[in-house]
Amino acid sequence: MNIFTIGGNGLVGSRVSEVLKNKYNVTNLSRTDGVDITNPQSLNIISSDKDHEWLIHYAAKADVDGCERDKEQGENGEAWQINVNGVKNVVNACKTNNKKLIYISTDLVFPGDRGNYTEDDIREPKNWYGVTKAEGEKIVESSGLHYLILRIAFPYNFFNGKKHFVFAMYNRLSQGLSIKGITDEVFTPTWLDDLAHAMDVLISQGAKGIFHVGGLKALTPYQIAGQIAEVFGLDKNLIGTTTREEYFAGMAYRPFDTSLNSSKIQNLGIKLHSLREGLQIIKEKT
Ligand SMILES: NC(=O)c1ccc[n+]([C@@H]2O[C@H](COP(=O)([O-])OP(=O)(O)OC[C@H]3O[C@@H](n4cnc5c(N)ncnc54)[C@H](OP(=O)(O)O)[C@@H]3O)[C@@H](O)[C@H]2O)c1
Repeated sequence: MNIFTIGGNGLVGSRVSEVLKNKYNVTNLSRTDGVDITNPQSLNIISSDKDHEWLIHYAAKADVDGCERDKEQGENGEAWQINVNGVKNVVNACKTNNKKLIYISTDLVFPGDRGNYTEDDIREPKNWYGVTKAEGEKIVESSGLHYLILRIAFPYNFFNGKKHFVFAMYNRLSQGLSIKGITDEVFTPTWLDDLAHAMDVLISQGAKGIFHVGGLKALTPYQIAGQIAEVFGLDKNLIGTTTREEYFAGMAYRPFDTSLNSSKIQNLGIKLHSLREGLQIIKEKT
């Protein structure tokens, strides 16, 4: 099966494509090839294509604080242009030949007041990134296309040069540098190979709708740092504590608990990993 991706060179898409390429013929469309989702004409390659059954849309402005800075420009800002208008353009391009669409979304569409969110819980984002991603979800849902919306949280991966929070923590601790772990923020980090596996199963089963692909256990950044130190044999004394208020002062609002309940996808037989299991795999294969 042939699959198009957009944004497939980013943190999420690069690892998922690497896994999916064992089974699917994956072609990425990138800005370096002239494909810019904010420019509908550049998406003619999608609308004129009949060979690719699915399109996986990873592309986004995923920098939460960068998006927040765009908020005062509203719909003219880059976050809206890429995360909302860009999704509209991709959806329209997919409609021509009825391509099936996977849209990658985020736990930040939820308010974060209680956690354990299911696919049926209502969207109520609290920062501009979350607002724009939630708008993107609505566009996909009302598109009439065969779609999957896959919500992930704080994705991590092998230490392969792409920046993610697990690597950032590991990197400091392994150099003997201190870190401050937030104690009042909770989320379910996604092991990216789980996302790839989930996509494979969902595509094979012809599934539709929204699915959560979070990690098995909800953790604070402080707990995450502790697990990294334990698994890699690093000094736990380097890990101090902080709060969201202190750490994110002057930055975008970060909710308390956006943990995803991923039972729906587990009920399809998909095994998800806890952070500790993901870290063990990284350690064994690095
Ligand atoms: N990272 C996270 O913590 C996180 C958490 C939850 C959900 N997500 C979601 O996961 C998806 C992937 O995120 P990521 O972390 O992989 O982001 P990333 O590393 O920043 O990569 C984003 C990709 O989007 C592409 N892109 C941006 N603007 C574009 C445009 N106008 N036209 C075409 N391509 C464009 C970039 O292409 P270039 O290479 O040309 O720059 C890049 O390949 C996003 O939908 C994000 O919302 C991410």
